[in-house]
Amino acid sequence: MRTYLVTGGAGFIGSNYIHYMFEKYGDTIRIINVDKLTYAGNLENLRSIEDRENYTFVKADICDTDVINEIFEENDIDRVVHFAAESHVDRSIKNPEVFVKTNVLGTLVMLNAAKAAWELEGGTFKEDKKFLHVSTDEVYGSLENEGEYFYETTPYNPHSPYSASKASADMLVKAYMDTYKFPANITNCSNNYGPYQFPEKLIPLIINNALQGKKLPVYGDGKNVRDWLYVEDHAKGIDMVQEKGKLFETYNIGGHNEKRNIEIIYIILDTLQEMLPDTDSRKKLISRDLITYVEDRKGHDRRYAIAPGKIKEEVGWEPDTMFTEGIKLTIKWFFEHEDWMRNVTSGEYKKYYEDMYK
Ligand code: NAD
Ligand code: TYD
Repeated sequence: MRTYLVTGGAGFIGSNYIHYMFEKYGDTIRIINVDKLTYAGNLENLRSIEDRENYTFVKADICDTDVINEIFEENDIDRVVHFAAESHVDRSIKNPEVFVKTNVLGTLVMLNAAKAAWELEGGTFKEDKKFLHVSTDEVYGSLENEGEYFYETTPYNPHSPYSASKASADMLVKAYMDTYKFPANITNCSNNYGPYQFPEKLIPLIINNALQGKKLPVYGDGKNVRDWLYVEDHAKGIDMVQEKGKLFETYNIGGHNEKRNIEIIYIILDTLQEMLPDTDSRKKLISRDLITYVEDRKGHDRRYAIAPGKIKEEVGWEPDTMFTEGIKLTIKWFFEHEDWMRNVTSGEYKKYYEDMYK
């Protein structure tokens, strides 16, 4: 039975990945999920699988060398899928230190622990051991001209403390592959959306605010472009890269779906109107009048867009979910999980929101 060590599995993409993997592989794999449970990690995301015999949760910081080494010593880990990170650009602008600690130093701890467990005498590695480092397209910087795309060969040019920390982590993974022939892959994915996304990110924030008749903050002119991917498609892409991709390669994972932020907001408002029954009192709160242009994000990247050729040709992956369908699935999920939204938006997040949008 193959054993996976997933880091950050209580977060947005990590929890979707764990659900996807159990649905796909059932009892034929084992997953150990290591998560520190920061504000972004939530065990409610995993409630429906937490009693499985082939699932273990370990509350730990990936920067804790002893604990991470111990997990490798006590378990014969076959696959590492490394999601754990601080992931929000706005928070990185306010407080970069924790981004460097978790994203850079934490990745180094994971690399060293896997290397120590997997390396044989003579510097080769045990067979069929693989490390997948989950990264972002933001490491490539910002596209300013129509018709330009991010390729796997595009030079790194990160702008925010978040993307700089992810770029640094990617460079460490590349260095381990080049120096030690450490068996790894890197995936650089575009913006995700879907169930369990924390409402500090654009799409869940807009859904949550619109349903409460609260203002919808748009940074700058609202014309920044992101390439949105439904999270389950990302989970599938990660698994396909790990099993079908060439070792040591980087694969970009893109949404095939570039949209301006303001277009995203219009689509969400229209879809909410369409999906809410006439009897629901929230329906009359939802309107474009809620849109409020606010001060732009510092160093706001203009456009991200991924050239999707390599992963399609070498791995056979393409997204399955069109945005019009994915946004409906996402809104339906939020309708059905109002308690989840209430829980994550109370307490610490409330303070962050008031400070951020004051
Ligand atoms: P998230 O913020 O929702 O979840 C991060 C998880 O990591 C949380 O469960 C948190 O508790 C955990 N974590 C944070 N610091 C930790 C530490 N020191 N030790 C152990 N666990 C820790 O993030 P996400 O959106 O799910 O992103 C997951 C990964 O995917 C990140 O590496 C991110 O850079 C990358 N990524 C995200 C997107 C996106 O659109 N969200 C796109 C491309 C790549
Ligand atoms: P976000 O979801 O934070 O992802 P990222 O910055 O990693 O791309 O933001 C997506 C886009 O939406 C980005 O251009 C910033 C913009 N945005 C707003 O206009 N208003 C908001 O309240 C938020 C959170 C983001």
